[in-house]
Amino acid sequence: MAGSERLICAASELAEGGRGVRFEIERHGQTQAAFVVRYDGKPYAFLNQCGHVPVELDWQPGEFFDTSRLYLICSTHGALYHPRSGHCVGGRCAGRGLISLPVVERDGQVYLLHTLTTESP
Ligand code: FES
Repeated sequence: MAGSERLICAASELAEGGRGVRFEIERHGQTQAAFVVRYDGKPYAFLNQCGHVPVELDWQPGEFFDTSRLYLICSTHGALYHPRSGHCVGGRCAGRGLISLPVVERDGQVYLLHTLTTESP
């Protein structure tokens, strides 16, 4: 539904620097993979699409952080992204960041805002 909120997951599913939650959105008429992680106490969501080659980032489903738990890493060639902004901070992303999606945490739930969506996988 356009212009509304959509429940992604329970806030408790997102541990700081831990496993993310995958979901899908409808964007430009296509279903696209996305994910949300928790960093510095807040949820941050992005399209699951590397800035180098448009492949999904996670090396195991939901595993987006590098071993330092400070950056998001692409499992294909190791590009690093800042988990707050999605900006490229190293590797083959070459300045091309992730596409961020608006999310909010409220009453123990994490919602996607103002985006055309489809059901979670
Ligand atoms: S596809 Fe992600 S770094 Fe190359």
